[in-house]
Parts: sequence; C-alpha cells; structure tokens
Amino acid sequence: MLQRKLNVANLNTPIQKLDYLSEQLGKNIYVKRDDYTGAEISGNKVRKLEYSIQYVFDNNYDAVITTGAITSNHARATAALCAKYNIECHLVLRGDEAIFEGNLFLGTMLGAHIHQIDSSVSREDTMSEIKEQLIAKGKQPFIIPVGASDWIGTHGYINAYEEIMNQTKVLNLHFDSINVAVGSGGTYAGLWYGNQINKKNIEIIGYAVDQNSEAFKEKVEAIIHELDSDMTDFDTIQINDQYIGLGYGKSTDEELAFYIEIAKQEGIIFDPTYTGKAFRGLISEIKQGYYDKQENILFIHTGGLQGYTEQTRHRIQQLITDQK
Ligand SMILES: Cc1ncc(COP(=O)(O)O)c(C=O)c1O
Repeated sequence: MLQRKLNVANLNTPIQKLDYLSEQLGKNIYVKRDDYTGAEISGNKVRKLEYSIQYVFDNNYDAVITTGAITSNHARATAALCAKYNIECHLVLRGDEAIFEGNLFLGTMLGAHIHQIDSSVSREDTMSEIKEQLIAKGKQPFIIPVGASDWIGTHGYINAYEEIMNQTKVLNLHFDSINVAVGSGGTYAGLWYGNQINKKNIEIIGYAVDQNSEAFKEKVEAIIHELDSDMTDFDTIQINDQYIGLGYGKSTDEELAFYIEIAKQEGIIFDPTYTGKAFRGLISEIKQGYYDKQENILFIHTGGLQGYTEQTRHRIQQLITDQK
C-alpha cells in the first residue's frame, strides 16, 4: 500500500442528511459531499490524484498524460493539479461534438495541452504516441489511466472509506450501505476494498453509468488484484447497470425532471452524467423495496456539475417552463 499522498483536497468532506427524501421514503438518507473537495479540483478524482501525482514526484516523472471524455472531470482535475505543481500536462479527450465549455474550457484555461480525438480513435494508442514524442524531447512522462482508476488512484477511496468510518463514530451512526456512481471503477474499488480489509458488514453498491455490471466487476477485480493479489473472493461486489438509460452522458427527459425535483426539494444538484443517474437508481431501488432491510443509507456525491452542457441546460430550462 502507498503511504505518501498530496494533501490538496478539502477533507474531510461533510455528511449531510436529506430530510425531505428521508421522511418521504421512511429511511435515513445521507449524502457525503465529495463535490466539496475543492473548486478547480472538485469531485472524486482529486482523492485519487493525490496519490497519482505524489507517485509522479516520487518516481521523478516530469510530465503527465491522461485521458477521458471531452467533458471529463478527471482530466480537468488533473490539469489543475499539474498547473499547481508545474508538471507538463497532456489531455487526450475523446468526443465528436466539442463545445468549448465546462471541463474542456477549464482544462484549457489551466494550461493543459489538449489532444482532441474522435470516438473511432484509441485513447490508449494516442497516449502511447504522445509518450514517445515526449521521450524523444527528453521528458519523462507518466500515463495516468482513464479516471486514475488503477491500483495507485484507488488508494484515494480506501482512504475515503476510513474517513467515513471515523465520521460514523463521531455521528454515532452505522451505515447499512454506501452507494456510488461507477464510471471507470476506481472509486467503487477503493470503497469495496476498504470495506473488505476493515471486515465491516456494509453493502457497497455501485450504479454503472455506461458499461454493464459484468464488465465493471471485471474491471474492479483487476484493480484490486494489482493492489492485493491475495484477494480472491469478490462475491460481494454489487454493481447495478439498470439506470444507464440512453448511455454515457445522455439524459432522458425523465432523468432531467428527476434532477430538477431533487434540486428543489433538497437544495442539492446532481450531475447528469454520473451522480444523477446513480442517485436516481438508488431512489428507484429503495421505492421497489430492495433496501427494505436498511435504515441508514449513504450516497457519495462525487461532483461533476461542469457536465451540464449548453444543450442540457436548455432542455432543463424548457422542462421548467413546461412545468409552469
Ligand atoms: C462526477 C463523477 N462521479 C463519479 C465518477 C465515477 O468514478 P469512477 O471513475 O472512479 O468509477 C466520475 C468519473 O468517472 C465522475 O467524474
């Protein structure tokens, strides 16, 4: 296990109760605000990057290459940390339609070199090519995989699990489950592994935002294997893939209407790509009785508000107008 990390995120993040929904559903529903980890670095990715960037320093690398969708929160957080620590940053961003807004805008402003590719091009091949070019120029580049979801970054959520356990002692509370969106798997992997090594009886439940449960289970197992080859029993991994809807980054009107409703009821906004889909999944599963044996339920808000693109904002405006 890695011991060293940067300390740049605003930790501990608060745990807040959602009063209206808790009363409505007859459960205690709490949200851990990992969207409060910072501003430029906000969201879950900074917890992982605290380890990844420390690793860059400890191994004498002087450039970072990473990848994600054109709207990637991970890429933006990486750009912010690279700017802060004066590391050359290359972002391979995939997406056919690129409007200069949100994370693309922020990443550019933070000084990252943007390599935009269309969806038919391999992100990994592009990163390898950039790596070769940088080596030829005398640089020592390090590739951080998509979402920093490898054995290094995953430490961030093993740590977050410990943080939650310490908070529950202070709050005198036992969570029956911890629920989270799954995009590249590292957040889930860290929470699941933290729960295993602490031998706690808490269900760690993931909600997939693109690939199916089996693909994510394999991904999570692979990350944990890199970390701990002795771990062989993965039976308790639970990743629900029923709430992906139209696919990665795409929203139905029903989903958007749900985010509007939660915003008005609880004063909390979930993002349309990750947390919104996952939280909608959680509420829907509670309503269907899958959480009947649980009393205290924790959802981690992993950030991502920069994902409200111009098009989605207009659709929301229209939905609100239609509701009046
Ligand atoms: C806002 C947000 N929430 C959740 C996730 C999912 O985390 P992970 O990639 O570790 O599965 C991501 C990234 O993929 C994200 O940007």
